[in-house]
Amino acid sequence: MNESSPPICDYEGSGYRTDFWENQGRDYEDLVERVALHRLLPEGGRRVAHLGAGFGRMTNELSGFEQVIVLDYSRTMLREAQARLGANGRYVYVAADIYHLPLADGSCDAAVMERVIHHMADVPAALRQIRAILAPGAPFILEYASKRNLKAILRYVLRRQSWNPFDLQPVEFVPLNFDFHPAYMARCLREAGFRTERRLAVSYFRLALLKRALPVQTLVTLDRWLQPTGQIAPFSPSVFTRNIAVGDTPPAALNGPLFKCPHCGTPLLQDGETVACPHEHGRWACRDGIYDFKEPLSS
Ligand SMILES: C[S@@+](CC[C@H](N)C(=O)[O-])C[C@H]1O[C@@H](n2cnc3c(N)ncnc32)[C@H](O)[C@@H]1O
Ligand SMILES: [Zn+2]
Repeated sequence: MNESSPPICDYEGSGYRTDFWENQGRDYEDLVERVALHRLLPEGGRRVAHLGAGFGRMTNELSGFEQVIVLDYSRTMLREAQARLGANGRYVYVAADIYHLPLADGSCDAAVMERVIHHMADVPAALRQIRAILAPGAPFILEYASKRNLKAILRYVLRRQSWNPFDLQPVEFVPLNFDFHPAYMARCLREAGFRTERRLAVSYFRLALLKRALPVQTLVTLDRWLQPTGQIAPFSPSVFTRNIAVGDTPPAALNGPLFKCPHCGTPLLQDGETVACPHEHGRWACRDGIYDFKEPLSS
């Protein structure tokens, strides 16, 4: 969007759904993430933002909300989400960058983001954007990949891995793929204006050997028992957190316009199939049910 913007892990045209999830032996991971999300989500609400929703794998878990913003940077992922979830008015599909969210300040009463922040080089910038779109008191359910997990600790002790899982700094193990220390993430959340009130340790049994040896339901039951231990000591590869937006800014704006200009923050004006900044920073199209903020229209 501008020269100083952090790099984006681009999923445009990727086979994430078929290559990573469908029939790829990850039923255990998928199921325990749903268990964790259910534990942390409120019963329902007005408007939830599902950020980096991808092809909408978990979006159906947000059924308690009147409106669901399905937001992702990849248009092809959003097309797949549309095909999966349907094009009814409850879902609003938005192609946009989390570093430049076009959602109005205080316009959501919950947000969910799983398996996304591990692609973000500038965590504080992303969290500030997310805090801004939430009404005060709104929960933000965040999943992140933890570097301080049992497998990484063992590998480090056995000298099979060079990076230290106890070091607070994120580790970029392949370009734009980061693992985070729980204490680092806790600090970033606090500094962005969130109070973390729950933390779950998820996916302890993410090992091919175990998944082959035990039925998936057994692993899910064991994971369900272990998840609450994350409140005190998460040593799992995945951590789910519930964070409350603190402070009284931005104002609650659940009834106001949904979109703001990603450049100046002014509410956008709807004009047929486009939305426009009154200060002429751009116009953006809604094409086949997807609001596209990746690029403004040329005139
Ligand atoms: C690993 S996939 C996870 C998708 C989904 N959350 C799930 O768990 O199935 C990561 C997603 O984050 C999206 N993403 C990465 N960086 C983004 C950014 N800066 N803004 C918006 N979406 C982003 C990608 O397009 C991709 O769909
Ligand atoms: Zn503007």
